[in-house]
Amino acid sequence: MNTLLSSSYGHFDDARREYVITRPDTPLPWLNYLGQDDFFGLCTNTAGGYSFWRDAKLRRLTRYRYNNIPMDVGGRYLYIRDAATGDVWNPGWKPVKTPLDFYECRHGIGYTRITGARRGISAEMLFFVPPGETLEIWRTTLRNTGETARRIQLFSFVEFCLFEALNDMTNYQRTYSIGEVEVDSSDGAIYHKTEYRERRNHYALFGCTHPISGYDTCRDAFVGVHNGLHEPQAVLAGAARNSIAHGWSPVGSHFIELNLQPGEAREFAFLLAYVDQGEPASENPRFTDPFVINKTKGRALMAKYKNIAAVDDAFGRLNVTWTSHLSAFQVTQSPDPIAARMANIWNQYQCMATFNLSRSASMFETGIGRGMGFRDSNQDILGFVHMLPDRARQRILDIAATQLSDGTCYHQYQPLTKKGNAEIGGDFYDDHLWLVLSTCAYIKETGDRAILDAPVGYADKPGGTENLLHHLETSIAYTMKQRGPHGLPLIGHADWNDCLNLNCFSTEPNESFQCAGDVKGSIAESAMIAGLFLYATRELTELYRWLGRAADAMRIAQHHAEMLDAVETHAWDGEWYIRAFDAAGKPVGSNVCDEGKIFIESQAWCVLGGAGAGNGRARQALESVHQHLYTPDGIILQQPAYSTYHLELGEVSSYPPGYKENAGIFCHNNTWVHLGWCQLGEGDRAFEYYLSICPAAKEARIETYRCEPYVYAQMIAGRDAATPGEAKNAWLTGTAAWTFVTVSQGIFGLQPGYDGLRLDPCIPRSWPGFSVTRRYRGATYHITVKNPGARSKGIESLKIDGRKISGNVIPIAVPGSTVKIEAEIS
Ligand code: BGC
Ligand code: NOJ
Repeated sequence: MNTLLSSSYGHFDDARREYVITRPDTPLPWLNYLGQDDFFGLCTNTAGGYSFWRDAKLRRLTRYRYNNIPMDVGGRYLYIRDAATGDVWNPGWKPVKTPLDFYECRHGIGYTRITGARRGISAEMLFFVPPGETLEIWRTTLRNTGETARRIQLFSFVEFCLFEALNDMTNYQRTYSIGEVEVDSSDGAIYHKTEYRERRNHYALFGCTHPISGYDTCRDAFVGVHNGLHEPQAVLAGAARNSIAHGWSPVGSHFIELNLQPGEAREFAFLLAYVDQGEPASENPRFTDPFVINKTKGRALMAKYKNIAAVDDAFGRLNVTWTSHLSAFQVTQSPDPIAARMANIWNQYQCMATFNLSRSASMFETGIGRGMGFRDSNQDILGFVHMLPDRARQRILDIAATQLSDGTCYHQYQPLTKKGNAEIGGDFYDDHLWLVLSTCAYIKETGDRAILDAPVGYADKPGGTENLLHHLETSIAYTMKQRGPHGLPLIGHADWNDCLNLNCFSTEPNESFQCAGDVKGSIAESAMIAGLFLYATRELTELYRWLGRAADAMRIAQHHAEMLDAVETHAWDGEWYIRAFDAAGKPVGSNVCDEGKIFIESQAWCVLGGAGAGNGRARQALESVHQHLYTPDGIILQQPAYSTYHLELGEVSSYPPGYKENAGIFCHNNTWVHLGWCQLGEGDRAFEYYLSICPAAKEARIETYRCEPYVYAQMIAGRDAATPGEAKNAWLTGTAAWTFVTVSQGIFGLQPGYDGLRLDPCIPRSWPGFSVTRRYRGATYHITVKNPGARSKGIESLKIDGRKISGNVIPIAVPGSTVKIEAEIS
């Protein structure tokens, strides 16, 4: 298979860091994200999606209807109407779906550029969020490519969300009466000010830098009560209504009339901004005058981007910013263009999205269900920390602050408030351990040991004076305390596998799909947490050694040894590690089980944690994965799939066979096995596995795969499914961060350490070598590895600026310097 074949829907343009979609009717809406700091937008290839500031639940600017028909309606729309003929179309095809003479969507890094053309008019819209701003820009170019003068009418459109998205979609007895807008006669900007009355200090602004001939803010007036977005009455009639919304559904629409001579083009921009006044309520003058909104900031934004050159500057800054982010790791020469493309561009880009949004807002997450995940965000840091270590630092401290003093954690927290969400069940007994991994990764990247002393209290003891190191110790101590009859960690409600609910005691059907059962007193244990604990304790031991705290290192190493003993004594099943012991003490993921005999997670984590190293079990465990779980589409989570529901196993058995945790290919956990093969020096296996789930390698089978070929999906249906090979849950998945770890540290082998950059690649034997540039602790390393002996692993010679050194750790260079590394595997 030529893996570089483009799909029938588009192709990669690596030079421009873009995926080019050439027809709008993709198998699913193909998504991109706008924004990298505080303001975010979801933008599909037909301009669908919505925007929010920081928190998709609490500060949502525009409305979006999930589970809609068709799937993706509502977004950043521009209606184009020929005044002479009444012909109406959109550059992104939707929502009117008038056939286009030309369509192209270029999803780039932090922007989406959609171009449509029809009957001699072309329209290009570039959507992006300038770095550091709380607004998105729709840079618009209208061009007359025909031979006659044309009179064109444009109608922009957004539908406002009344900021609190859950209320907005459920509480109509209230929301239909609270919406308020204002149109600024000075510059035509539309202000959405619902919530301002309640002394919340924010509003949304939708402005246009082109003079307008009219506007609409009332959905019923613009669209019509009985019409859809594909047939708005105002557009069909060719005239704005100049409506002001009072309650119901406020929208924003500008009406622009243009005369375009042949060859003439008009460039301007729409701005969608979030303005938070920021000042304490008591100092805000509007409270003496109950409802005068302060437009100062809004007007300043309008003025700032009035000139298209300012827009272009902002776009230039965006690209420079991204080049800088991505330059922390670049494969400059590789025998496999797919791995280079993904590692250099898309994988790192996806890591930014998961870092920013955790699992909150995508085409599969509504932005109101989940905020930031404790477990998820810690893992997301692993793929992000090299890009922007300072932001990772802050995030680690934010996450740690949602841990409770007994060691447990809020499983999720809201990004806006940074407060744990008590409604989402806790008792995931793996959560706290991931904090050790993120902290160690951060220190290895930066050398910033001071983070360990950073004051961070516990969520149940506000104002506490503990520090981050205290949290790491609390995490380790908690698992040591919470062990079951085999000395393995208790699982609680679940571990990494949310659906392995071994304490599901209620026989009543449960409306929330959560298994009811008190974990207190339960003896259900997890071998996956045991493996994770082995890994975390190894990390912490190494950290203490580096800090010169030998006694602490020894103490943690003893915990490691104790757990290792329990794993090797009780968790080995003969050919693989069992997955768990259930609440009755029966093994899960064992040869003695009828279904679910072997699971992926315990093989991966026990091996990564160092189990099976001296006794051949590590290799045997991964060989068993290969034999029982590996398929060309990736590694299946467990086999055989559960054919019926098992109360004692919970949600894992609630899925039809082949989907999600019931024998789906859960890409996230695949990556741990990739790393496992790297650890064992099996570069061919690691790379074959890497490609098996790689989206860029799915283009030739896109009709089956369906999701975006440029970002990882959480799940690909397994072989037991009715639709094997079909992906779901693209974008917000731990696969992003972990694949970046696999590819950068496992395959290309650049491993940040406390004292330098370890170079330990594990590549296919057929690779003659590769080159990578890495920014690390302020210096730039140009690394070339040659493989004349056609092996996979084992650096035999290492030269730094021409000087040979022993071992494979590249010492830390002077910040600002450039270092040339030549290495050989032989
Ligand atoms: C899904 C998991 C997810 C969990 C979140 C489950 O239904 O299968 O993948 O992590 O919900 O609560
Ligand atoms: C998705 C969740 O976000 C993640 O935390 C979990 O580990 C996986 N599902 C597996 O259940």
